[in-house]
Amino acid sequence: MKSVLVSVLMAATTTTAKVDYDNPGRIINGTDAGPQDYPYFVGMGYCGGALIAPDIVLFAAHCGDWKDKQLNIGAFKKETLTQFSQERYCAQWIADPKYDGSDLNYDFALCKLDVSVQIDESNVILELNDYDAVPKQGKNLIAIGTGSIEEGGPYTDILQSVKVPAMTNDQCKQYYGDDITDIMLCAGFPEGGKDSCQGDSGGPLVRRKKNNDGTFTDTHAGIVSWGIGCAQANRPGVYARTSKRTDWIRETSCSMGSSASWCDSLVNIAQPLPCTDQGLIPLTVKMTTDEFGLETTWRVRDSNKEDIFKRTYLFKYYENEHTVCLKPDECYQFRIEDQFGDGMCYDGFCGSYLIDFNNGQETFSDIGDFEYERTIEFCTGDGVPDFCDDDKKEFRFDGDPTKTCENWLGVGKKKKIKNKCKKRYLGYKVFKWCPDTCGEVGLGICASSR
Ligand code: ARG
Repeated sequence: MKSVLVSVLMAATTTTAKVDYDNPGRIINGTDAGPQDYPYFVGMGYCGGALIAPDIVLFAAHCGDWKDKQLNIGAFKKETLTQFSQERYCAQWIADPKYDGSDLNYDFALCKLDVSVQIDESNVILELNDYDAVPKQGKNLIAIGTGSIEEGGPYTDILQSVKVPAMTNDQCKQYYGDDITDIMLCAGFPEGGKDSCQGDSGGPLVRRKKNNDGTFTDTHAGIVSWGIGCAQANRPGVYARTSKRTDWIRETSCSMGSSASWCDSLVNIAQPLPCTDQGLIPLTVKMTTDEFGLETTWRVRDSNKEDIFKRTYLFKYYENEHTVCLKPDECYQFRIEDQFGDGMCYDGFCGSYLIDFNNGQETFSDIGDFEYERTIEFCTGDGVPDFCDDDKKEFRFDGDPTKTCENWLGVGKKKKIKNKCKKRYLGYKVFKWCPDTCGEVGLGICASSR
């Protein structure tokens, strides 16, 4: 049964690309939220989350690794920055070490933000539920999210909320048997009708209390995790039970260097130094997304083919700007990928990219009308890299130990060597692996230094 659920999830995550976002509607029988009703809600595309500290998002482990992905903090429209929402990135991601992907037990994960965020808490605050006895049976809880508004149907663009009563685990086991563990919490009506659904995963299930002064205190009781179908009779929604993991949530956020009130740690809030003050060279990257920001990822790799910076977007038709500090006299690869294979283009509109380095002296820019990827290779400084050495250890063309750069490439006619240099090995042109030998015949990054 769980494998079915997971495949439903996979289908949901891989087919979200071309759904009709404009279809107005309601999460399974919920209602549109107001722009400031849930200031802690975090929009993540095909998942949701909750801001539990100025720099920590709590969501579901089954959503997967969220590192370097763009987040919409205080989201009200899923992939759009609105008056009350703010843009951040997940800088560090940790899933619950007890999380079990086969039964979705311990479905908890945390993201530490790249930069902390102040949300407006004058009307609503969010607290973690520490008490296993809460919520009591029948108490109304609120699930929120931007997922499907009908089973198998389109996602909503406007944040939805739905009221569902808490169930005891004993009652829930009548429907799901032993798949329900102590770390889970069920909510919904036996007759169905209201529920969370695919795409709501990770989002909060809260108990809302109105205070005497008219403000609200929301208690984070659960994380949208799984269910069979959505809103079906005898199939309540299943949530990760927050109270069972508040210790882990708090400890882990502190270990990530959070400024959360419960960490009472001294957090260094100093802004990072500008690249030039560190003797480094700023690379400016400007990227305008199409309808599907989530499909676009770019990274900068150094000459060791290590990623030094990576970003995946969320916002649609949005102009993003970043600065990456580069070493002087080093060669890099800037690579944009589109997961869907239609570039940064959709419905006649193409986004664009621009990279600018060597302090504005060199610029590459174009519209994003590539298919799966575009790669730009460049060097900072005088353009003469200091790594014109062949890869001696890893490069074995066709897995043959005799086919190293020198032995396989460096013999025969110049034209033959050139052709071999253009072949691909593990996804990269051979001249990336053998810059020295290929440079000798005038190819690749080391050609200019000869
Ligand atoms: N696993 C789903 C997701 O990834 C959430 C399903 C919730 N289902 C439910 N009936 N409440 O979005």
